[in-house]
Amino acid sequence: MRHLLTGFEFSQDEYLDILETASAMKKDPAKFRQELAGRSGAIMFEKPSLRTRTTFELAFYRLGGHGVYLDLQNGELGKRETIADYSRNLCRWVDCLVGRVFSQRTLEELAQYGSVPVINALSDLYHPAQAMADYMTIQEHLGKIKGVKVAYVGDGNNVTNSLFVAGAILGANVTSFNPENCTPDAVVFSKASEIARKNGCTIAVENDISKLKDFDVVYTDTWVSMGDNTPLDAVRKKFNPYQVNKDLVDQSGAQIVMHCLPAHRGYEITDEVMDGNKSVVFDEAENRLHIHMAVLAKLINA
Ligand code: CP
Repeated sequence: MRHLLTGFEFSQDEYLDILETASAMKKDPAKFRQELAGRSGAIMFEKPSLRTRTTFELAFYRLGGHGVYLDLQNGELGKRETIADYSRNLCRWVDCLVGRVFSQRTLEELAQYGSVPVINALSDLYHPAQAMADYMTIQEHLGKIKGVKVAYVGDGNNVTNSLFVAGAILGANVTSFNPENCTPDAVVFSKASEIARKNGCTIAVENDISKLKDFDVVYTDTWVSMGDNTPLDAVRKKFNPYQVNKDLVDQSGAQIVMHCLPAHRGYEITDEVMDGNKSVVFDEAENRLHIHMAVLAKLINA
């Protein structure tokens, strides 16, 4: 049985297989309508979502299965009963657990005590399926992933961590430009760097935004992560040099601009860039669906 908890679980061949399957599902969805016939999953969210929730539910539906949404926004996992018991119950009924959680530890416990695949739909540390959809989008727009130079600009967060992990495995060169003390997780960075070294690519962290030159992709995300109630205006001064605006995109040389969404227009990204001809943000959002279909099929049918 396989899980998708961090993104480190899969080899390069397996990533490529998921991306290829997702593309085939995007091209000809009718061919896959019975892929998960009679199978089901629990979709548990401790945090809000538009894209991830919608696309996981639709992914089950489009593959002939059924996703049961469990709203945990008013009752964190482990409060009403232990996470272990929660997992043991669900695994008697469903074939997969999809979880958006505050703590990565919650997903690990679900996997430890359960008997079906667990998929990370965002935790404090990782957003692995998001990164898969992102690299699928890069492949579609630039025709390759290996050797592509990706600049993540802004707050080093779970999305940055997952761009590092998937990028290192797929052979992309990923640099994260962040203010000091807003860098991605050091342990994830170290593990991803080791994989990148073996795959002949690089993972880097940089504070100096003047070094944002000669990149293929510029990627950004919110300056304040979900669950952190700091007002965006309170961090504006620190992050302003990292705002993805036209000048920064021109400086970078990037062909495409990405954002996992939701966007905070006028903060981490300007309207001009978000709505400009280099923006592929809604392609990324669309690809969430195709990647989720491919991941569910791979893990449930394993
Ligand atoms: N990118 C992303 O995970 O979007 P949602 O929070 O809307 O699911």
